[in-house]
Formats: sequence, structure tokens, C-alpha cells
Amino acid sequence: MVDIILGLQWGDEGKGKIADFLTPQYDIVARFQGGPNAGHSLEFEGKKFVLNTIPSGIFRKGILNIIGNGVVVDPIRLQAEIERIKDECPDYSERLLVSLKAHLILPTHRILDAASEAAKGEAKIGSTLRGIGPTYRDKTGRNGIRIGDTLEADFMSRYRETVQMHLRQIESLGYTGFDLQSEEEAFFTALEQLQKLKLVNSEYLINEAIANGKKVLAEGAQGSMLDVEFGSYPFVTSSTTLAGGVCSGLGVAPKHIRKVYGIFKAYSTRVGGGPFPTELNDETGDRIRKTGNEFGATTGRPRRTGWLDMVALKYTCMLNGVDELIMMKSDVLCGFEEVKAAVAYNIHGHETHQVPANLCSAPVEPQYRSFEGFGNHLDHLGGFDALPESFRNYIHFIETELQTPIRVISLGPERDKTIVRPK
Ligand code: IMP
Repeated sequence: MVDIILGLQWGDEGKGKIADFLTPQYDIVARFQGGPNAGHSLEFEGKKFVLNTIPSGIFRKGILNIIGNGVVVDPIRLQAEIERIKDECPDYSERLLVSLKAHLILPTHRILDAASEAAKGEAKIGSTLRGIGPTYRDKTGRNGIRIGDTLEADFMSRYRETVQMHLRQIESLGYTGFDLQSEEEAFFTALEQLQKLKLVNSEYLINEAIANGKKVLAEGAQGSMLDVEFGSYPFVTSSTTLAGGVCSGLGVAPKHIRKVYGIFKAYSTRVGGGPFPTELNDETGDRIRKTGNEFGATTGRPRRTGWLDMVALKYTCMLNGVDELIMMKSDVLCGFEEVKAAVAYNIHGHETHQVPANLCSAPVEPQYRSFEGFGNHLDHLGGFDALPESFRNYIHFIETELQTPIRVISLGPERDKTIVRPK
């Protein structure tokens, strides 16, 4: 069977910490979409790691980690990531498997990403510039190169053809000032290393594991509001970040999916452009950013911050069929006299509980409900019942609105600052 852990907001919900926390219950952890645009932070024993492409189960002995077919892989980034973890995980090459069908991010995909963003000017998406969009575009356009293709005799000629196509596109966007030659050197060196990893038909491997009673955790990247179908289009990433993406991104049938864990922060953040109804462009927003260290794990960019948006959260719980919720970073809201959550949107004088299809252009005014602050400190040691009443009220409100239990409450980045509530 397969369980899924995924983000319900605009990414950066803290999936790395929770995937790592959940992994002891599983035999396999698999990424099903996205690529090095992700930055999953893990902290334990005073050490901190950021994973981009490697699944978060890599630090747990005996667990297999699969980079699935739905992921896009940049060999340069993957190699850098391996360098960062290899002392901590000396057996990584035994436990890290990569799908032969995963698509490769080429140097020209990254250049194209920068060229497309530059051409968009003010309307840019705010992409991570990791080449994600152009790689998925080539995949669906049937021009992509998969990792398995690099082992074929015609790989170099296909590579050159693809690069020529990209260079024409880059020229038409009027983009200059890149050094393809040095990028290619780094790419081919890293590709050689990638080819030494275990490259597999991961769909067979996962299905055999399921047939043998093994447990798989599918680890999402980005967030549901960045999904290419249902997110705040066009300010989205280029993959299916929702639970439905697990089937195509790993090759497992819907009947094997057991539980969906939805993860969200006690407030909202978003990085890059696009609509953000509950955004706080004031001192409160600054304070959340500072206290929550809301700066991109991958790019270092400051994240935009705002109150919890229950309209968006209800929407993403519905789209994913979330069974259990995991709430992160509640401690960041400590010290505020008042905490707010949006319970409806007002658009042109009409109240709605739905995320509008034209979220980018609709003049959304969030309608807030106010809560008493949680005091100065939330201590994990006494368990849920020892937490302040005002905080427990906030939790009960969210559970009632979403009709879904909050099973795990995280009160800090370390593994132990986590309260698990009994069923
Ligand atoms: P791309 O995925 O790099 O093309 O970026 C598209 C949009 O998704 C941009 O607004 C990015 O900031 C955002 N994004 C991509 N990956 C992440 C992530 O892991 N966390 C948060 N935002 C992300």
C-alpha cells in the first residue's frame, strides 16, 4: 500500500521534517513529481540538511528511496546533493534508486527558464530558475530526454538536436549572456556520476514491493496551490502536486493508495509571484517571516507571509481527499495578541467559500475570524492537553472547518518537537 504526504498550501509547509519523521513506518520513500525546485529541510542531532531531489527517507537505515518517473532530474544538482549527504549516508548508493523514465533537466532548460522569465518582465512567475517548466514542457511536447535515453547509442545526437532547438527558442526570446560550454562540462561530468546510480524501472519495483506487503510513502513537493491544474494558474509549478499525481508519477494504481496526509503551516506563505489573498504587507507579516525564518531553502528568497487561508485549505483538502492533517510551525505565532484565519472571500460584495477560477484577477477580500493569542511559548513536553486553551481552540476550529483531524502538531524544526495525537 501507498500513503501520501503532501503540502496543502503554496509549498514550504515543512514536508521534509514530517516525511523524515514518518519514514520509520515505511520500507520505501518515493518522490513522484517536481525536481530541484524543492528544498526539503531536515534537522536531527544538531545537523541540518536540505534535500532537493533525493527523498527524505535517505537518512533512515534500511529504507529504499526512489526518484520516480514523474520527477525531473538535474544531474548537477543531484551530484551536489549526494556530496552533502554521503558522509551521513555512506550506503546511499545501495538505497537510492532512480527511474529510467525520469526526465533530464539539461543546461539549456535552465537557460530557457531564465529567458522565459526575463521575457515576461513584470508578469514573471518567479520561478526557481531550475529549468523545471521547460523540462516538463519538453516532456509533454514529446521532445524530452529521459535518464534511460542517455544509455542509448543515439543519445549524443538527440542531445545536440534538442540543444539546437532550445538555442533557437532562447534566441527568439532575445536572451544572451550565458556560457553554455562551461554548463555542459559540469553537466556531462555529473551525468557520468548519475549513470553509476541504480537506474531502474521503478514502476515494477514499487508494484512488486506493494504485492509483497511493503509500505511506500509517496513524498510530494511544492504545494497543492501550486498544482498545474488547480493551483493559482499561471503562477504555479509545471507538475501535478496533488494526490492524483502519485499514480502517474510512480506508476501505481489508485486502489493501492491508503492514506493521504496533508501538511500545512499555522499561517500561510508563498514565494514568487501570483495571488495570495491573506498576504500581510505589514509589521505582522515581517514578524512572521523573521520568527518563522521564512526564506527559501533552495533560493534564499524571502517568502511572502500571511494569515491562514481556510478557503484555500478546504479546497486543497477536497482535491487531495486528505485523511489526516499535520500542522507545522504553530510556535511561530506565539507572542501575538491576536491570530486570524480567513473563513470566506468577499468578491464584488458577494461572499464565497470557493476559490474562484480567476483568482489572479478577482478582487478577493478575505473575511477573517479572530482568535486569542497563544501566549509566549508552546511546550511540546506536556502533550496536547497541556497546551494553552486558546491554541487548542484554534486547532478545534480548523478540524471542525475541514472535517479532518489534526494528527500531528509540530512546534519546532527538531525531530522531538512534535506532538502526535492518539486516534
Ligand atoms: P518553478 O517550479 O521553479 O517553475 O516555479 C514556479 C512557482 O512555484 C514559483 O512561484 C516558485 O517560487 C514556486 N515554487 C517552486 N518550487 C517551490 C517549492 O518547493 N516551494 C515553494 N514554492 C515553490
